[in-house]
Amino acid sequence: MQAKPLRSSSAGALTGTVRVPGDKSISHRALMFGALAIGETVVHGLLEGEDVLHTAAAMRALGASAERGADNVWRVRGVGVGGLKEAAQVLDMGNSGTAARLLVGLVAGHPITSFFTGDASLNKRPMARVITPLEQMGASFVSRAGGRLPLAVIGRDDLVPVTYRLPVPSAQVKSAVLLAGLNTAGVTTVIEAEPTRDHSELMLRHFGATVTTKETEDGALAVSITGQPELTGREIFVPADPSSAAFPVVAALLRPGSEVLLRDVGMNPRRTGLYDTLLEMGADIGFENRRDQAGEPVADLRVKGGTLKGVVVPAERAPSMIDEYPVLAAAAACAQGTTVMLGLKELRVKESDRLAMVAEGLTKCGVKVEVGADDSLTVHGTGAPPQGGATVATAMDHRIAMSFLVLGTATAEPVQVDDGTFIETSFPGFVDLMNGLGAKIGTVAP
Ligand code: S3P
Repeated sequence: MQAKPLRSSSAGALTGTVRVPGDKSISHRALMFGALAIGETVVHGLLEGEDVLHTAAAMRALGASAERGADNVWRVRGVGVGGLKEAAQVLDMGNSGTAARLLVGLVAGHPITSFFTGDASLNKRPMARVITPLEQMGASFVSRAGGRLPLAVIGRDDLVPVTYRLPVPSAQVKSAVLLAGLNTAGVTTVIEAEPTRDHSELMLRHFGATVTTKETEDGALAVSITGQPELTGREIFVPADPSSAAFPVVAALLRPGSEVLLRDVGMNPRRTGLYDTLLEMGADIGFENRRDQAGEPVADLRVKGGTLKGVVVPAERAPSMIDEYPVLAAAAACAQGTTVMLGLKELRVKESDRLAMVAEGLTKCGVKVEVGADDSLTVHGTGAPPQGGATVATAMDHRIAMSFLVLGTATAEPVQVDDGTFIETSFPGFVDLMNGLGAKIGTVAP
């Protein structure tokens, strides 16, 4: 695929009302769980980004139907827990770690053999973190060195329920084990020392599964699923993705005089670490019309431009804002004073090594940064936007691309990213939405 460089130039105040696309985590799960339910699942506001479309294609290959109607509503007809059939082809997960890890867990609990692959970014990412617990349950794997894709899973419908303590704070690993437990007789438990996003737990309950949580003696959280429930098709309203909203939010904060309203943004407390951090930095963000939408809290966000100050972001906050550090780093680069982000080890195994890519890109834009041996990131803001005037490498990573385009709305000289193609994985329409608010983002000849 040909790279599509994009350039972002200094904008005036951003104004307007927008709804960013649907939540990626919730969209993947709506398709997967709908495919296992009996009857029809109706999904409003599904994210039609490439990552989620890969999940839809995989669910079809595994025997469910998942189609978008003329009314833009998606309808999924499931096969029942245990009813997935063997796919005739390799399942291509594209750029999506969530699709790959959750589906590997799901098929591990079915008596079928499945083959998974992805693009050059996904095929570098660690899968051993899901292979290890699923092997303990009785599934078999053949993978590339270091547990990389492509891999083959030989699943079974007589897996052994386990109690598994997460070695890394990962909702994807937690979900993979719970989904393998879905078609496993007995109770499968995942223990997490740090709470990670709980969309799987909330939505599985919504479909009728028994999922319980209990604090352990050492203060961790034990999440248990009772196997072989009957799931029933449901109606799902997907909130706007707080991780996507982060880009127009930060862009508005960086431009004095801005006022932007973002509708229906998901406010699950396991996802809102960025917003807590921005408020600590002095951001003017109002959370209006707070309500519940099909089991997930949502709000409309009113964001006003102003000045930000540097803060220390504690390591414990990382799981609740794991995808938002690149755009927080862009905000920190324009803030007054130093921002220190602690505990960023997991950033190294995202769509790219985000710690390295952020540090490299900011340095090119004239920002003083340090990466600590403890996987911390320190960004020295001067109170004024940095110079910019650089082309930043994005390494097939949508969030690196969008974060630097947001930075470019404020820098003295334009910021260019080498490839905006991967923005389609999570935020179709990003450039138009941002330009509709007053940003100046355009294509450039490669
Ligand atoms: C996700 C979990 C997070 C996040 C990813 C989506 C999910 O990954 O980075 O974008 O939907 O469960 P980890 O759980 O691996 O940290």
